[in-house]
Amino acid sequence: MKKIVILISGRGSNMQAIVEAGIPGAEIAAVISNRPDAAGLIWANERGIPTLALDHKAYASRDEFDAVLADKIEGMQPDLLVLAGYMRILTPVFVNRFAGRMLNIHPSLLPAYPGLHTHQRAIEDGLKIAGCTVHFVTAELDHGPVVAQAAVPVLDEDSADTLAARVLKQEHQLYPAAVRAFISGDFALVAGRVRYARPLDESAALRVPG
Ligand code: GRF
Repeated sequence: MKKIVILISGRGSNMQAIVEAGIPGAEIAAVISNRPDAAGLIWANERGIPTLALDHKAYASRDEFDAVLADKIEGMQPDLLVLAGYMRILTPVFVNRFAGRMLNIHPSLLPAYPGLHTHQRAIEDGLKIAGCTVHFVTAELDHGPVVAQAAVPVLDEDSADTLAARVLKQEHQLYPAAVRAFISGDFALVAGRVRYARPLDESAALRVPG
């Protein structure tokens, strides 16, 4: 059984999607939040998943907090660390400790729009297609080898909220699928790029307008 540890900071809807996917060969060893009031912690707790709240505000520095967090996680011996709405920048020391076994989901088609307010920026730039990306975590924020991406249309009448909701639906499909693929060894990191062991569907396309 492979062990997954999930880090959250808030509602944890991606964490829920991963738990509910019931990925064969994997168990959720723990859900950890840096915010004790994260709604996702209650949800996980109610389902009997071990939870841990580690309040970053109780630590003098980012380095100190990340060192304690990394030790706690390491003690759980995870095969995979999943960032799911974890809203803290990680120190390079932390990232290096979990290199090659830490995934994140970001609500844009990276490398476009790293950082915050991705949907507002996509709308202001007049894009017709937006989306989300699952990627390996590296020391540079929202960079790192891309594992999977999903695209959605941007509509003329979209607000950041309506676009976020459309993208989030895809996140809930994409992230569990990417975690499942990691667990079953469907892809490998080759020279800094993700390569799949199986052929991918070359006919898939999204045209806007269709
Ligand atoms: C998602 O949009 C994710 O892409 C971003 O933060 C949000 C987290 O939402 N990293 P949730 O906590 O998983 O509901």
